Amino acid sequence: MNLKGRHLIDPSDFTLEELNQIFTVAQDMVDIPEKYDKICKGKILATLFYEPSTRTRLSFESAMLRMGGKILGFADAQTSSVKKGESISDTIRVVDGYSDIAVIRHPREGAPKLASEFSQVPVINGGDGGHQHPTQTLTDLLTIKTLKGNIDGNKVALCGDLKYGRTVHSLIKTLSRYKDMEFYLVSPPQLQMPEYVKNFVKETYNVKIVETSKIEDVIDEVDILYMTRIQKERFFNEEDYLKLKNSYILTADKIENAKEDMLIMHPLPRVNEIDYSVDKDKRAVYFKQAKYGVYVRMSLMAHLLGVI
Ligand code: CP
Repeated sequence: MNLKGRHLIDPSDFTLEELNQIFTVAQDMVDIPEKYDKICKGKILATLFYEPSTRTRLSFESAMLRMGGKILGFADAQTSSVKKGESISDTIRVVDGYSDIAVIRHPREGAPKLASEFSQVPVINGGDGGHQHPTQTLTDLLTIKTLKGNIDGNKVALCGDLKYGRTVHSLIKTLSRYKDMEFYLVSPPQLQMPEYVKNFVKETYNVKIVETSKIEDVIDEVDILYMTRIQKERFFNEEDYLKLKNSYILTADKIENAKEDMLIMHPLPRVNEIDYSVDKDKRAVYFKQAKYGVYVRMSLMAHLLGVI
């Protein structure tokens, strides 16, 4: 299967077969990392981050370094010529001459897609505003596949800020493509999943969705509990954020009756939504999940660069 030269802007850019190929290689990279430690020798990754990041940027950089490649880029666009008014289309037309593959995070929805239309090298969407975060979805799916053995047939609760959280938009669109999935959307009324996302997955994949504002309604039912942060940076005023910021706080006592093999996931960073007392529960896998992000990004880049 040849993915060389392709962009990843939306998780639906890849078929399930292509995603599966990426996961299979990523799992091999977890098991035998030394097999892959030189495959990107001579390759350069550009990380263009117009918004803050810890996991996405550093896991991409770690992934390229672990495959013997090199990295360049900026973590703060204000230190680049963006500050002088350079457009993203001009920036990518310059950076594609300095690199072999680029990952872009941007506060504006659609910015990585626009860049991909001007780029001579593969562009990966590292998160665009409140829209999509496809490589987080690859991370989430590799975590589920590895720890549960199967993606099909899971009951999944997505909890928190489902309006502005780009991770859950990409995740539900992708999980809906698997067999026999059921979704519980848990959010305050003000932060419900946008209608366009719900309508898309219902009409395209005929999935079952139940909406509630109470985590207690679903906690004993689900195979995966995916917590998310209330996205402070997307609110128009501080007062609205303060009203909603502690809508959900998962504590050890709240998961007492949850399934023994439920996975508690979170794309991180967390603020208050998972109490630190939950971290020692074997079902809490969010730090493992962050580590799988390195391997799935290794596999993704190796495929887009055609070195595998
Ligand atoms: N999960 C995630 O996107 O984290 P960062 O914002 O730290 O990259």
